[in-house]
Amino acid sequence: MKQVKRNILLNPGPATTTDTVKNAMVVSDICPRELEFGELTLSVRNDLIKAAYGEKNHTCVMLTSSGTGGVEACLTSVIPHDKKVLILNNGAYGERMQKICDAYSVGHVDYNQEWGFPLDLNAVEKLLQEHLGEISHLAFIHHETTVGILNPLTEISALSQKYKVETIVDAMSSFAGMMIDVEKDNIHYLVSSSNKCIQGMAGISFVIANTKSLLKTGEIKARNFYFNLLENHLYLERNKQFLFTPPVQTLYALRQAVTEYFEEGPKNRFARYASMYEIMKKKVRELGFEFLIEEKYHAKLLTAIMDPKSPDYSFNEMHDYLFERGFTIYPGKVGNKNTFRLSNIGAIYPKDIEDFLKVFEEYLRIKKII
Ligand SMILES: Cc1ncc(COP(=O)(O)O)c(C=O)c1O
Repeated sequence: MKQVKRNILLNPGPATTTDTVKNAMVVSDICPRELEFGELTLSVRNDLIKAAYGEKNHTCVMLTSSGTGGVEACLTSVIPHDKKVLILNNGAYGERMQKICDAYSVGHVDYNQEWGFPLDLNAVEKLLQEHLGEISHLAFIHHETTVGILNPLTEISALSQKYKVETIVDAMSSFAGMMIDVEKDNIHYLVSSSNKCIQGMAGISFVIANTKSLLKTGEIKARNFYFNLLENHLYLERNKQFLFTPPVQTLYALRQAVTEYFEEGPKNRFARYASMYEIMKKKVRELGFEFLIEEKYHAKLLTAIMDPKSPDYSFNEMHDYLFERGFTIYPGKVGNKNTFRLSNIGAIYPKDIEDFLKVFEEYLRIKKII
């Protein structure tokens, strides 16, 4: 197996991958219309459904795109022309959903909350009442990666059940990193991608869809082509092939990543991620930093940290110091608040976080920032 230099990515995906996932891409060339590749495709699809606990009523549509493509496919495929989607926005990815709907003239009602703050579910319920009969879907971000806030999946999906609307969840940076059960949580469409908590390579987005709901979208006159969810689903069902050319090697890597997910076990993965968050949070607080959002709302997958007040602080310089030593951190600006972000997803372990924190502290002391 080829060994490659290991980088610890603390950006919120694409995340660090294992060597076995990297090496899974080195395979013989194959035409993706071959049955062998079709079987691989179906095995990955079925395991993604299993990872979402959706074997009973859900299917999964995989698309060649980054995560945004999956969100775009969903929003432009499932909302009837005479209905609207209620979009909950408390970060950049909620706002992106609104922009996608604008681009395709998909009707939407917006609930906008200042970024970094929790959703006010009373206000959301009021909107559902005000637009009764008009709204067919409720869309939101589970882990709003802009700030690291966890939006309350169970409570929101209870509201969608109460008002008989379908639920669309962007679980890009939470799927396979924390417990999500599409059946119990009443999720009609869950979107995620290959390069975050599932620990594969970038290039595949997927929508875990309630099969009945998806089949019903056949009644909607299509607004899209490449990204039509139902067409992509039906083609794979009938032909055991992707509708369009898939990213062949990325799929092999995803096969390996999904295998490693089940080998580690969902509970162990969630616990590993949460333990890395705890180590990071404790040390960062000891070093005197403040968090952007209140701790009780942290998703424990990413922490947004307020920039230090020292005049000697420069994110870029800190980034470069850490990068040269194998650690990648991520910038962040929320309104007029400057933050940097530390994520704890991917094939990284508590020891990596401890090593990172040593180098981080060393830099802060050298520069007299703390
Ligand atoms: C919650 C969420 N939604 C959507 C996206 C967009 O994904 P991509 O950059 O892969 O298009 C991201 C990316 O980080 C995300 O965190």
